Amino acid sequence: MDWDDFAHWGTHISNWAADYHKTLAQRPVRAQTAPGEIAAQLPPTPPEQGEAMAHILTDFEQIVMPGMTHWQHPRFFAYFPANAAPPSMLAEMLVTTIAAQCMLWQTSPAATEVETVMVDWLRQAMGLPDGYTGVIQDSASSATLSAVLTMRERATGFTGNRDGVSGKGHLRIYCSDQVHSSIDRACWVAGIGQDNLVKIGTTGPTHGIDPAALEAAILADKAAGYTPAGIVAITGGTGIGACDDLLAVSRIAQRYGLYTHLDAAWAGSAMICPEFRTQFWRGAETYDSLVFNPHKWLGAQFDCSVQFLADPQPQLDTLKIEPEYLKTTGAQVTNFSEWTIPLGRRFRALKIWFLLRAYGLEGLRDRLRNHVTWAAEVATAIEQIEGFEICTGPILSLFSFRCPGDDAMQQRLVDALNDDGRIYLTQGMFDGRKIIRFQVGQFDTTRDDVMLAAEVIRDVWENLT
Ligand SMILES: Cc1ncc(COP(=O)(O)O)c(C=O)c1O
Repeated sequence: MDWDDFAHWGTHISNWAADYHKTLAQRPVRAQTAPGEIAAQLPPTPPEQGEAMAHILTDFEQIVMPGMTHWQHPRFFAYFPANAAPPSMLAEMLVTTIAAQCMLWQTSPAATEVETVMVDWLRQAMGLPDGYTGVIQDSASSATLSAVLTMRERATGFTGNRDGVSGKGHLRIYCSDQVHSSIDRACWVAGIGQDNLVKIGTTGPTHGIDPAALEAAILADKAAGYTPAGIVAITGGTGIGACDDLLAVSRIAQRYGLYTHLDAAWAGSAMICPEFRTQFWRGAETYDSLVFNPHKWLGAQFDCSVQFLADPQPQLDTLKIEPEYLKTTGAQVTNFSEWTIPLGRRFRALKIWFLLRAYGLEGLRDRLRNHVTWAAEVATAIEQIEGFEICTGPILSLFSFRCPGDDAMQQRLVDALNDDGRIYLTQGMFDGRKIIRFQVGQFDTTRDDVMLAAEVIRDVWENLT
């Protein structure tokens, strides 16, 4: 392909992209294909000769597109969103075009410097104090793993990387039973082990960790000869949106000298609105490490996860490695690959820059506030369907409900809704019972889209019973 062909097909694809988004609401939200159906249409062996782009794109439309679930669909209410605002997509196109690998300052100074400033813009937007710095990672899972590794190294006098973790005693990490599975995984990978991730029960209307039980667990562990290493708090848990009392948790951490990490992967975006900070985020500024995903609710195309750090040094002492081939000379510069596990890095900050400039914080706040308002309205409408109950009321824009019947019936309703295709929902567990989760957060969703969901649920339910 020469660059004239590239320009031709680039224009074709960008027109296709605009049409796709303009007609997206007419498609079923979740892919309606059976397992293996897409793979069966692909040749089992790679082509020996190159093929025409027109042919490749025809196959893309005919084979691949039917197997896509539409994450930008305005009636996607499943999981959490992975919003890609149009300006952030354009930024990604530019990043893809330049195709730089931005591991060190000198491998693209602009990438490092825009990243530094974007992290600081977001810090200000989220009301975090001056002095917090940070880094953009691919995912919250990577940021949490970095924080858990830092907890491990800090608790072992920074000897774990050198000696390995066997013989270091039992390090213990604490969290509530509402945290995301990425915390468990981080403990597996860091050599802490599942049994040393102590999950504490929750209390209160936001289902936050029980501070008294947390402190009792730390004291019991110390008495038993274990080494408490850190606490992972949550704002906006995946299941039902659980939010810890951040101040209570960090006071306990301070009492026992523990490193703290706050997972706000989803709910963090809402913290650009001062009123949600007052409601859910008091004390966030006392955490050593905080992660939130602009690629979830805010609108920066996947992937884009910001980890704020009160002091980057412990994480650098944990992760920095500098072989000769990565050494740089000259001025004192930041090499962000020293802050993270992967060496290679994409220029993720550009899409934050485009996003924040195109909408302004006020434009983004309007969207988030609407989502929270509409979630409460649709929860009320669902509660009015005969026999339906709201299991956990909205925390920001996430709530859960149940239809009449047992757990199997909940799953039948979820599956029937997703086969119907007009909306997309997923299930969860709360208090030992299956629940149906509902989150409102699509970038371009409207009140009509959200309220239509209650009608679709009533309709599909009536056909099911
Ligand atoms: C609360 C929470 N934390 C962490 C994660 C993991 O995020 P990522 O996919 O960026 O690793 C999720 C994913 O939905 C989440 O909901």
